Amino acid sequence: MEQVLDFRHSVPDTRQLRHAFGCFATGVTVVTTRTPTNKLKGLTANSFSSVSLDPPLVLWSLRLNAPSCQSFRSSGWFAVNVLGAHQQALSRHFATPSPDKFANIPHAYGLGGCPILPDCLACFECSTESAIESGDHIIFIGRVNRATYREGKPLIFSAGRYCVPEVLADSGADAAPRGVKESAYAAAGEVR
Ligand SMILES: Cc1cc2nc3c(=O)[nH]c(=O)nc-3n(C[C@H](O)[C@H](O)[C@H](O)COP(=O)(O)O)c2cc1C
Repeated sequence: MEQVLDFRHSVPDTRQLRHAFGCFATGVTVVTTRTPTNKLKGLTANSFSSVSLDPPLVLWSLRLNAPSCQSFRSSGWFAVNVLGAHQQALSRHFATPSPDKFANIPHAYGLGGCPILPDCLACFECSTESAIESGDHIIFIGRVNRATYREGKPLIFSAGRYCVPEVLADSGADAAPRGVKESAYAAAGEVR
């Protein structure tokens, strides 16, 4: 049954709104940083999005009252680790508050000293271009200084649950000639 949330004359019901937002399926990332005092921070985030190809920009948003907020504000660098379908446990781990989330988690160090998680589908190493407070979140826009990626199944978050993708018939690269698809997006000014 369709639900209608009308916020014009009432305080938003955030639980219901969360359900509405949850209709938009996303990938799952772990965004990491290193503070000026060398503390490692990271959290699960599905607010990630690409912004621009040239220059290469991405964004993600963080709850202003998250314990890690000040760390991301002060760092100047962050890394977006895009999780694969095999990394659900990692997503749960980084979504749970803890003083040292990296204690038993294998990681390397990337640009700005940010932790890089192994076996991810992609990693975007970014310098913070701008940080914009909006509502109860802060939006970080990052310039991608280095990107790595490989093939694999992404972890998906939809309606509050972890999922794996199912490819539909006639939906792949063969569904339309590649050149046609790309030029149609280019004409519309889309990055994807
Ligand atoms: C799938 C998923 C996606 C999430 N996405 C975000 C997000 O985009 N921004 C955010 O502030 N919190 C998000 N969270 C919640 C944070 O991961 C969680 O609050 C975490 O504990 C914050 O890290 P901190 O406690 O170290 O600050 C998400 C949680 C899950 C499970």
